[in-house]
Amino acid sequence: MALRDGNLVAFPTETVYGLGANARDTAALRKIFEAKGRPADHPLILHLDNARFLPRWVAEVPPQLEPLAKAFWPGPLTLVMRRSEECSDVLTGGQDTVAIRVPAHPMAQQLLTAFGGGIAAPSANRYGRVSPTRPEHVREELGDAVGLILDGGECTIGVESTILSLTEPKPRLLRPGSITHAQIEAVIGPIEVGADAAAPRVPGSTVQHYAPSSAVAIVPPTLLESRIDTLLRDSRRVAVLAQRPPRKAQQGVTWINAGRRLDAYQRDLYANLRSLDKAGADLILIEEVSTLPEWAAVRDRLSRAAANPR
Ligand code: TXA
Ligand code: MG
Repeated sequence: MALRDGNLVAFPTETVYGLGANARDTAALRKIFEAKGRPADHPLILHLDNARFLPRWVAEVPPQLEPLAKAFWPGPLTLVMRRSEECSDVLTGGQDTVAIRVPAHPMAQQLLTAFGGGIAAPSANRYGRVSPTRPEHVREELGDAVGLILDGGECTIGVESTILSLTEPKPRLLRPGSITHAQIEAVIGPIEVGADAAAPRVPGSTVQHYAPSSAVAIVPPTLLESRIDTLLRDSRRVAVLAQRPPRKAQQGVTWINAGRRLDAYQRDLYANLRSLDKAGADLILIEEVSTLPEWAAVRDRLSRAAANPR
């Protein structure tokens, strides 16, 4: 099996595609950093097929684990805990904590069960870029740096897992995802939000992340048409990610109507950013989305895509 031989395997999860290696093989783990162009101090997520073997990988099982695992695993929730001796420095980026997730995608489950151990995997994209949600995106991002890609079709959720740290008495939401703040609080009570000064590094939390190569700007819905008109007057080409159809047909505009439904918008978000990136536009305009709490993960990824100074 490729993983046992120390090779990388890209595999589908319900969130995004992961670039996996045997979590106990430090040489294989190093290949992940090389393939992604990712700095070595940025930790990976350890994937397990269920919570049964989790105690091996952590120094202590926090009290919130059982209710959270019952409510959300398998699923798009990653939990950060104190690491045990089983975890190498390459896996944890030299930190004393480890991030663990039990994915729900049937192909990820099959792979983990057949392998019989932990699989370390970040998203299968080059560092700082948009995560892959389809197998062809993985090939596009990593080319020959990844041998085997397991084709599980399109990821159904489309944004990376919610990351929650359980290393302090009060849990802390480090990365918003499809499992919301409110859903977590309904299970374990009040939590903190955002990295504090002492918190570990989360690569996805550096401001410039999840970025296409074209410049990106977020525009309030009412200003979208006037921004487009101004750009076209300056002979610029524009690509638009909106939640409605265009009001008029205009030369030089590529338009995607991603709709107003959160699940579909989120599922298609990265694929849409990729196609707009290929439209050869001078600027990608994104119509600002809802401020309702369920949209937090989408808003977070959009603001990081736009924060890119180019
Ligand atoms: O949905 C997902 O989480 C996907 C799929 C493949 O599981 N993975 C993913 O990994 O998005 P990615 O590319 O974000 O990289 C691993 C993430 C980073 O944001 C990293 O900071 C965080 O996990 N992480 C790993 N170990 C951590 C730790 N000890 N403390 C805080 N964050 C950690
Ligand atoms: Mg990533």
